[in-house]
Order: sequence, then structure tokens, then C-alpha cells
Amino acid sequence: MDKQLDSIQPIKWQDNRLCLLDQRRLPLEQTWLDYEYSDDVAAAITDMVVRGAPAIGITAAYGVVLAARHAWNTAGVNWKQAMTAPLAHLAASRPTAVNLHWAIERMRQLYLALPNEITPEAILLQEAHAIHSEDIAANHAMGQFGSDLLADNCRVLTHCNAGALATGGFGTALGVIRQGYVDGKINHVYADETRPWLQGSRLTVWELQHDDIPVTLQAEGAAASLMASGQLDWVIVGADRITANGDVANKVGTYMLAILAKYHNVKVMVVAPTSTIDWALQHGDEIPIEQRDGQEVTMLAGQQIAPVGTVALNPAFDVTPASLIDAIVTEKGVVLSPAIETMKLIK
Ligand code: MRU
Repeated sequence: MDKQLDSIQPIKWQDNRLCLLDQRRLPLEQTWLDYEYSDDVAAAITDMVVRGAPAIGITAAYGVVLAARHAWNTAGVNWKQAMTAPLAHLAASRPTAVNLHWAIERMRQLYLALPNEITPEAILLQEAHAIHSEDIAANHAMGQFGSDLLADNCRVLTHCNAGALATGGFGTALGVIRQGYVDGKINHVYADETRPWLQGSRLTVWELQHDDIPVTLQAEGAAASLMASGQLDWVIVGADRITANGDVANKVGTYMLAILAKYHNVKVMVVAPTSTIDWALQHGDEIPIEQRDGQEVTMLAGQQIAPVGTVALNPAFDVTPASLIDAIVTEKGVVLSPAIETMKLIK
């Protein structure tokens, strides 16, 4: 893989602190923020400094390290009890992406097994680094699996940002797009701007331009006519939570794209690590969908754009039924025609 296609990484551990690239300011500014307390990390997740399911999980893992440091410094051998409140705060920072809970649980299982007399920070930091690097490795594996599904010279559409910025690096959907471009499988990418946070225009276009991959931005309302014109082969997206039957929660608007794709014979690929699968849920309607402040819709970049007093609906995600998805690509392999039986192949 060309090193240039693997150079964006939004999360760093440096000088004993967590550093996050502030995604609210991209693409105009590249600002890094430092964190020493887990409560501030939880606020950073809620406020979208960092976003994207795998990136939220990695960030929370480092947040647990910071919580453990503080707990040890303030409670000594009673540090495990002092972890309960900060971890609950981290877990409540965003409700839909299951990677958050997956990462916190992995860290919790590790520290619960430690003796009370051991300083936990170094051991937990090693685990957070492992979660981080495993995510990047998974993205590369998925990139190749996804690319292998494509014919030559495909034109693809992606929604939101499922790129390096949404992960440890390389990306899920954008990992497939990066690999597919290198392999000659993709020759053009369309990016939905993705209201209201504009992750598509601000983040996806920025990433693809950075890697010299040809990209055209469109309002998501343009997707139907793009498909009708015959200029699209695949919709490739990420996921925030996948249930045992293959239903997929992803950025609001994904369900709309999947319906359009079915009508126009365009294929749909969902790319996500197995840490995004919630085996405890059988069906997509059990997934908690985050409802965000309506002001994110009525305002843009701090400016009021709807009449004052407008009531706005702002679900951050929607659920695409498995029946509308052609392939779910994970690091453990590809599930074609996802359903309760086919999903078991990667359990
Ligand atoms: O609200 P966001 O920006 O966190 O939503 C992100 C998405 O919906 C992504 O598509 C998803 O997390 C997959 S990221 C690899």
C-alpha cells in the first residue's frame, strides 16, 4: 500500500495525554486538542471532536486509561470502585455506536482481573494501543476484501465519513475505496455532503483529496438522479451498529440510499469491523438511535438558517434492513446477502 494513502490518523497518545484532531474544525483548520481527564474525553465524544464508531471506541479506551490514572492517584488501592462513575460517563457519551461499549467492556474485563495493589495505567495503556492498532489492521483487511468484490472501473457513492478520521486510520468504507482505487476497481467516488454535520463535504472530500482520489461532492438529494443516470455501481458505507440478523444502523440517510439502490439495481456494501456487531440484538429496531439537538439542523456554522422557533427533527442514524444490503465486509470475512444464518459465518 502506498504510504500516502495511510497517513491520516485522528487519535494519538503523546506525552502521557490523549490527543484528538478536532473534526469540527476540518477542513479549514487542523487543530489538535489534549485530554488528561476521562470526563473531558466523554464530552469530546458527545460534542463530535471525534466521531465515527471505531474512532469513538478507541478514544473511549484511552479515556479508561486516564480514568484509571486519576482513580489510582485519588483512591489508591480502592481505584476499581473509583472507576465506576467515569466509565458510566464515557459509556453515555453517544448511544448508537456499539464500538464504544465494546471497547469500554474490553478495558473493564482487563482491569477487573488485576490485583488492587498494582498501578493499572501501564497495563491499560498497552490494551488501548492494542485496540487502536488492531482497528487499523482490520481496516486494511476489509479494504482488500471489499476491493475484491468490485469489478474494474466502478463508480461508487459514499455517505457521511467512514474514513481514516472515523477509525484508527485508513477507514472502513474509505478503506475499501482507497484499496479499490489502488487496485483499479474504482475510478470515481461520489460523496454525499451529509446534513447536518457535513461529514461528507468536510471530512470525506478532504480525505480523498489528500490521497488524490477523484471525488465529486453532491447533496444527498442528488443520489436518486445519479443512480437513474446509470453512473453508479455501488453504494459503500460504514456502520455504527449491526444486529445479529444483519440490519445496519449508520448515518441518517443510509436507509434512503439503500432503498434507492435497490430500485436502480445499484449494489450496497457495508464495511465494519466485528467490534461493530452487537450479537445481543436480534433486529435493527432494538438499536437505540441518537436524537441530537434540533439546532444542528436550524443552524449552520453558528448562523441561523431556518426561521427562529423552527422545530427540527434530528436523528443521527437510521436503520437499513439486511434485505437491502448485498454485502457486509468485516475483517473476519464477507457476508453476502446478510441474514440471521449467513451472519453466523463471522461470529
Ligand atoms: O455521527 P457520526 O459522524 O459519528 O456518524 C458516523 C457514521 O455514521 C459512520 O458512517 C459510521 O460511524 C461508520 S465509521 C467507520
